[in-house]
Amino acid sequence: SCSSQMPACLPPWEEFSLFTFSLISFETEQEISRLPSPNAMDRSPSPSKASTTERGMWTVNSIGRLGNQMGEYATLYALAKMNGRQAYILPQMHQQLAPLFRITLPVLSRDVVQNIPWKDYGLHDWMSEEYRHIKGKYVRLTGYPCSWTFYHHLRQEILQEFSFHDHVKEEANRYLAGLRGQRRNVTYVGVHVRRGDYVRVMPQIWKGVVADKAYLEKAMGYFRAKYQEPVFVVTSNGMDWCRENIDASRGDVYFSGDGEESSPGRDFALLAHCNHTIMTIGTFGIWLGYLVGGETIYLANYTLPDSPFLQVFKPEAAFLPEWIGINADLSPLLGET
Ligand SMILES: *[C@@H]1O[C@H](CO)[C@@H](O)[C@H](O)[C@H]1NC(C)=O
Ligand SMILES: *[C@@H]1O[C@H](CO)[C@@H](O)[C@H](O)[C@H]1NC(C)=O
Ligand SMILES: *[C@@H]1O[C@H](CO)[C@@H](O)[C@H](O)[C@H]1NC(C)=O
Repeated sequence: SCSSQMPACLPPWEEFSLFTFSLISFETEQEISRLPSPNAMDRSPSPSKASTTERGMWTVNSIGRLGNQMGEYATLYALAKMNGRQAYILPQMHQQLAPLFRITLPVLSRDVVQNIPWKDYGLHDWMSEEYRHIKGKYVRLTGYPCSWTFYHHLRQEILQEFSFHDHVKEEANRYLAGLRGQRRNVTYVGVHVRRGDYVRVMPQIWKGVVADKAYLEKAMGYFRAKYQEPVFVVTSNGMDWCRENIDASRGDVYFSGDGEESSPGRDFALLAHCNHTIMTIGTFGIWLGYLVGGETIYLANYTLPDSPFLQVFKPEAAFLPEWIGINADLSPLLGET
């Protein structure tokens, strides 16, 4: 995990998963013609030998937690299409995304993953012209891409890929209906408060802050002023902090998150079924805003201008132009010597 002793700790969003790399070995002496064919799981089409040969096989690293995985998946989907290649996902990505979503990209078997002489192609977190012309039949995209600039032209397809299984949808809707109470005209606002490792990593590594109490009050005030009967559904990987810092005295706040970092699916599904989104930082919240499609409020300008974070993260490529930013209070950083 990230610490101030590890300045090379670059991944902008989540902690690094070394596990991924142990699955990948390069056995370039293997002939392509002897490669086992990819296994077809679920609804994945089984590609014929011919189409595999002509269209190649592209994949993407499977690192980070849910939000990162979604960004990697969507970016692979879009870039492979743009370059006329067939996209496949790694088994560990399938394992994280398939329980929630009706994703359709075919899954590589572990044998294929190990035997293909992949060419790694590193991505930064925004679309670039050169990504339309990536060379190679067996490309593995690497990095932590999570930017609408890669895939917004395919928005409908991406939303389809990330549509929930019926049982997930039903459980979320049942829970939300249970919060309605006597309200007649309820508007659900999903509130995702990213804390956990970021509470330490933002100030120590990125010269930044996480969302504070004042930010959440402003964001909730926006919805209280605009909608008749808002209901705020709060999830976080720091639920205790939320209970202490979010004013629930009006009776319109529900602390609904189970805070289970290892199984974020339930919290994600719950907020994805709300009508609007308050996010703080992180790809989990960005994906909620993208899927929900209502109004999204995000924490803006949460690092100092000279933060190394801004070299790997472009706010304008992360937040849709119609989303509403509320500036972070950087005074805790400025107060330090
Ligand atoms: C329901 O609330 C919305 C705003 O929250 C308002 O525009 C609409 O008129 C309300 N509908 C009814 C029937 O009160
Ligand atoms: C708000 O979300 C609820 C729960 O998903 C849904 O039933 C309702 O139709 C949504 N309301 C609007 C105006 O989209
Ligand atoms: C963030 O800072 C930039 C540059 O100073 C500014 O243009 C932008 O309006 C700020 N964002 C918000 C939401 O105020």
